[in-house]
Amino acid sequence: MDLALKAIDHKNYTDFANYLESVSGIALSLGKEYLLEMRLRPLFRQLNIHSMQDMITRAKSDRRVLALMIDALTTNETSWFRDRYPFSHLQKIIFPALIKQGASRINCWSAACSSGQEPYSIAMVFEEMRRNFPCTTSLNILATEISDSMLEEAKKGCYSERAIARGLSEDLKNRYLQPCSNSWQVVPKVRQGIRFQKFNLVHGQELASLGQFDVIFCRNVLIYFTTQVKTRVLTRLASSLKTGGYLMLGSSEYVSLDLPYFITEKLSPGFVFRRTAVPVKR
Ligand SMILES: C[S@@+](CC[C@H](N)C(=O)[O-])C[C@H]1O[C@@H](n2cnc3c(N)ncnc32)[C@H](O)[C@@H]1O
Repeated sequence: MDLALKAIDHKNYTDFANYLESVSGIALSLGKEYLLEMRLRPLFRQLNIHSMQDMITRAKSDRRVLALMIDALTTNETSWFRDRYPFSHLQKIIFPALIKQGASRINCWSAACSSGQEPYSIAMVFEEMRRNFPCTTSLNILATEISDSMLEEAKKGCYSERAIARGLSEDLKNRYLQPCSNSWQVVPKVRQGIRFQKFNLVHGQELASLGQFDVIFCRNVLIYFTTQVKTRVLTRLASSLKTGGYLMLGSSEYVSLDLPYFITEKLSPGFVFRRTAVPVKR
């Protein structure tokens, strides 16, 4: 039986929205019953679930069901070199500055990496910079995601022509992708510097074990969170950034940033946030 739209009454919807926020940070705004039903319908069929309460009960008792539910409700829109400016800033300013400071290894974290275009774009930027200015510095990238299916896609690094057309130039495609059955795969040289890991930005207890980073990309995910959850996530990210480290957010995510451990540097266009050693008084 399908989940009927009328079955999601206000109480069911609110209970489910509260549960989803508690496990993923994702905030469902009011009036999204239709969207919720569309996204969950295949899962309800697959697992023989008949109500929102049933969904919550099953997700609470079975981690696999929880993972499938989160998978169904995340928005995974991404592209290569999304918005361009963060990547050109990385190539022209951030990487050269870190190398000039004598870093033998640069640690970068792509938090919420979706199907992988973001961490691969970062790795390609580094390769491109090294083509022009050879150096001995190495780049380590940690790419994390809450969605199991996205993480699997990201690890494979295989993309259709259609996905490639979204932002990857012919030049970079020729240099960093190789044919693989019906698709294209990122070459081992680029893949090998990236470690993929499941990680929930809101709950990941093992934050300290991820390490300390010079650069964090946390782009186009905070928009799905409430202000309270955003603040919590940004506080966690601050604790994972080295002093002076760089935080890149999505182009529409800077407005609400008012945290003691970040100063804003204006780029044109966009912004980058720098981790301060001591809290900034505002
Ligand atoms: C719109 S995509 C953005 C991908 C990429 N950062 C970009 O800018 O193109 C947002 C991603 O955040 C992930 N996400 C949502 N909630 C998350 C959470 N609590 N922890 C980690 N990732 C999360 C989603 O699964 C989705 O793949």
